[in-house]
Amino acid sequence: MKIMIAGDYQEMSSIAANIIAEEIKKKPDLVLGLATGSTPLGTYRELVRMYKEGKLDFSRVITFNLDEYYGLSPTDPRSYHYYMYTNFFNHVNIKPENIHIPDGMAKDVEEECRRYDEQIQKAGGIDLQLLGIGVNGHIGFNEPGDELLTNTHLTNLAPDTIKANARFFESIDEVPRKAITVGLGTIMKARKIILLASGREKAKIMAELLDEDAVSTKVPASFLLLHRDVTVLMDKEAANIYLKKKDGCCGTVGV
Ligand code: GLP
Repeated sequence: MKIMIAGDYQEMSSIAANIIAEEIKKKPDLVLGLATGSTPLGTYRELVRMYKEGKLDFSRVITFNLDEYYGLSPTDPRSYHYYMYTNFFNHVNIKPENIHIPDGMAKDVEEECRRYDEQIQKAGGIDLQLLGIGVNGHIGFNEPGDELLTNTHLTNLAPDTIKANARFFESIDEVPRKAITVGLGTIMKARKIILLASGREKAKIMAELLDEDAVSTKVPASFLLLHRDVTVLMDKEAANIYLKKKDGCCGTVGV
């Protein structure tokens, strides 16, 4: 596991975008796994900038998003569909047929999950997976529990997640209680993974994750310790507790 600590959010976002850009340059038909939430917004902004400056071409890139709220339509401004189009897809030359996001309105959810896994498999699996992390250690919407599922599935959101994501809704009651998420198996099969963490709310979970030499279904992100190509990229705020514990002080590990 490679750990990188950026000075601030902007630097973290530029580094993430540069890693993604390099992978696209090496493999123009890269299969890119994408995340939502506040954390990757700066990365998407940087990728859009590179595209607009003529430095990056998404015409052959294939994307698979990690998750979608169950019961929200693609046109709902709070859906991850809407987020992805407004923050990224509408501003680059990706082909609409190369974009994949689970359908939160699917009548037959099991079939939708099966279809999604099939599409990922047909594309050859994920080459590069971008991840954020929940305050409770979730990745995608794989929530802490007694077991973690490997394939795409409908999941109940944890109370911590509902609380954390309430900021995107008018009230906590409006946060969907369920979501469709790719499973941990799909994430772990990605050839390369970048985990982003930003801000002080993530400092506790990042210290927990990076200090432990154990995996647990109670911290789904801990399974990333078993992956052979993970870059953990944090800003200073998210790395704060980890650095204090590590150095007994508050030093900074540069990138
Ligand atoms: C959300 C998403 C995750 C995301 C995480 C952190 O609920 N399902 O994919 O990584 O929670 O979100 P944020 O970046 O807003 O803190």
